[in-house]
Amino acid sequence: MLRIDFVTLFPETVLSAVRFSILKRAEENSLVAFGTANPRDFATDRHRTVDDEPYGGGPGMVMKAETTAAAIEAVVSRQPPVAGRQSFIIFPDPAGELFRQADAAELSRKDHLVFVCGHYEGIDERVVEKYADRRYSLGDYVLSGGELAAAVMADAVVRLLPGAVGAPESLEEDAFADGLLTYPQYTRPEVWEGRRAPEVLLSGDHARVADWRRRQRLLATRERRPDLFARADLSTGDLDLLK
Ligand code: ADE
Repeated sequence: MLRIDFVTLFPETVLSAVRFSILKRAEENSLVAFGTANPRDFATDRHRTVDDEPYGGGPGMVMKAETTAAAIEAVVSRQPPVAGRQSFIIFPDPAGELFRQADAAELSRKDHLVFVCGHYEGIDERVVEKYADRRYSLGDYVLSGGELAAAVMADAVVRLLPGAVGAPESLEEDAFADGLLTYPQYTRPEVWEGRRAPEVLLSGDHARVADWRRRQRLLATRERRPDLFARADLSTGDLDLLK
């Protein structure tokens, strides 16, 4: 079973962000277990201090090394010491490398993931240096903290665990699974506000439906994500579909 721990000053926020829908069912079915550790619980002073002013000056506060590290150590040692089981430690960080579907797939094969959620202006860099196996960014925008980013990454990972998604074949058709965006979906009624669902989807001809969907994926990727399209591994069949 995969264990995912969040080191965070806001444990309830992260847990409520991951404990719903498919992820909640995955935890109920023992495919994953979520846990948290709060640096504040490891503070030793009267005010339970977890942050301090940045060296060199500047706005905001920096999460202190001692309390953040103590919380990381706590979740790592909480893991039962089974031979070969290893903790993999991730820092959500807008200055990290971009988190992609292939990274989610890689993380879904680990035993224990620890997301260390920064808040305020960030975490003392020495903690990141010591513990980070990866720093991941969700995209080129800044969130108020790592909590929502960690919950997003956990979602992308957990739905890939065998048994988490009811129809596993749907995972293969996910956007990005093979570097292409997904195809559009339609359901009843056939005509809605004058807009007709594509005829081919009602034809019952599975080969034509498959070709149509593949072509939609190729067209959408070429138009909206030329960066992905340039890297896609296209077959001669794909090139025919694009003609
Ligand atoms: N923390 C703040 N912004 C972030 C982002 N874009 N990705 C990951 N972690 C973050």
